[in-house]
Amino acid sequence: MILSKFIDELPIPPILKPRWKNQFYTYYEVNMTELRQSLHSQLNDTTVWGYEDGYPGPTIEVESGEKVFIKWINNLPDKHLFPIDYTVHGAHRDVPDVRTVVHVHGACVEWESDGYPEAWFTKGFKQVGPYFRKQIYRYDNCNHACTLWYHDHTIGITRLNIYAGLAGFYLIRENRERSLNLPSGKYEIPLMIQDKTFNKDGSLYYPKQPEKPIPELEMSITPKFIGDTILVNGKVWPYLKVEPRKYRFRLLNASNTRFYRIKLDSGQLMYQIATDGGLLEYPVGLKEIMLAPAERADVIIDFTNLEGKNIIMTNDAPAPFPGGDKPDPNTVGQVMQFRVTLPLSSVDTSTIPAHMIPVPKTKEQSVTRVRCLTLNDNMDQYGREWMLLDNKPWDAPISENPKLGATEIWYLINVTDDSHPIHLHLIDFQILDRRNFDVEKFNKEKVIEYTGPAMPPEPQERGWKDTVRANPKQVTRIIMQFGPFTGLYVWHCHILEHEDYEMMRPYIVIR
Ligand code: C2O
Ligand code: CU
Repeated sequence: MILSKFIDELPIPPILKPRWKNQFYTYYEVNMTELRQSLHSQLNDTTVWGYEDGYPGPTIEVESGEKVFIKWINNLPDKHLFPIDYTVHGAHRDVPDVRTVVHVHGACVEWESDGYPEAWFTKGFKQVGPYFRKQIYRYDNCNHACTLWYHDHTIGITRLNIYAGLAGFYLIRENRERSLNLPSGKYEIPLMIQDKTFNKDGSLYYPKQPEKPIPELEMSITPKFIGDTILVNGKVWPYLKVEPRKYRFRLLNASNTRFYRIKLDSGQLMYQIATDGGLLEYPVGLKEIMLAPAERADVIIDFTNLEGKNIIMTNDAPAPFPGGDKPDPNTVGQVMQFRVTLPLSSVDTSTIPAHMIPVPKTKEQSVTRVRCLTLNDNMDQYGREWMLLDNKPWDAPISENPKLGATEIWYLINVTDDSHPIHLHLIDFQILDRRNFDVEKFNKEKVIEYTGPAMPPEPQERGWKDTVRANPKQVTRIIMQFGPFTGLYVWHCHILEHEDYEMMRPYIVIR
């Protein structure tokens, strides 16, 4: 089904109001419900899952350092919207189908409030997973100003819960950022980009089986989900009316598998000011921006002197990435449209600052441990693709156990043909470099023989990151310091179909 483009206006999620706020802390409650919502005006309303009766959920805005408590409440029905594969770890028939747990992606948070995949809970907290510790999560927000997002993280069904709609923005603000005079208020807009496929009746489609079905199973996980329709903030191919002035857009790829390479068909530059973990040292002018699942790019787009123009945000990233088909330029090759039709309401005094904040390089001399971790492609008993980290399933004993305060370098050795967005909870890291290596030799002899020079990260990647594209047949090196909390966290591929099966590992920060 091909839906008309640019006939619905871009929705902007509301800002969530706290239930309670005083000088010490802020308290929110967030309900998860099933609801019907219009995702496109030519479609019947679609049944989705939302936070506070909306998909995407409301935007949570906090100050850096603010103490925030959130009670995430599961008020969903007992029946899931999508086919569950009961052979997937953590999703066996001995647990209820509808389970949830919420992770604030990129948050610096105690482990009990991090949304550990096995800390799930059901409606009324009637049943909980083995690692469930508390009903009310505590967030210390020790991050600097940045664009985070919250989403479901339940073991074995994360791909289905997020696809159903369980995702929203979580913004951290700070005076240091305010003083930069960036476009703000109604000129600052979050854009959550996702792909979905619809059935004729307007309901969401998620496959029961992979392309090559597994005859022994009624329902089987698929190694990738590629939708045929693009949505931004929960609307199919929306448009946004803008004034001829500068805007700040917080781009987030919240898709299951799809990568985006974003461009503007006007050919103009986007000025990237921040990445996953906050502001860069300098804005970087870019013609195209690559976004893997969970990556964020905060950009300024200047519509000055473009009165009357329509500008389309396009995407030309193959799906899956990098080996898949090029997107059809008439459908998934387009994301949304900007219409410069609003009158300028006041003089645009916002700026694209020449310098923003210092991003001190994490020192390699302080490294106490180096870990070599492979990204592997295996096969399970049904002949399905089974991607693992360091060749270990989720249940294998914990092997990544950094000490509190320790600085480590991780070598992400990708022997697969896919690019995997690798995400670590709790901390932000820096990308050191990427380097091609001889995969065959590595597979045979377990030694890394580089076949090319070390390539530094792209200029827009030289900030704080929590998700990095580990490209095929490359070693990607990241450096990070673990803290300020100890406890049990996870690291994983953010392609949700990989994460669920079982490209995810626990890690522990120890004292
Ligand atoms: Cu965006 Cu472990 O998650
Ligand atoms: Cu992956």
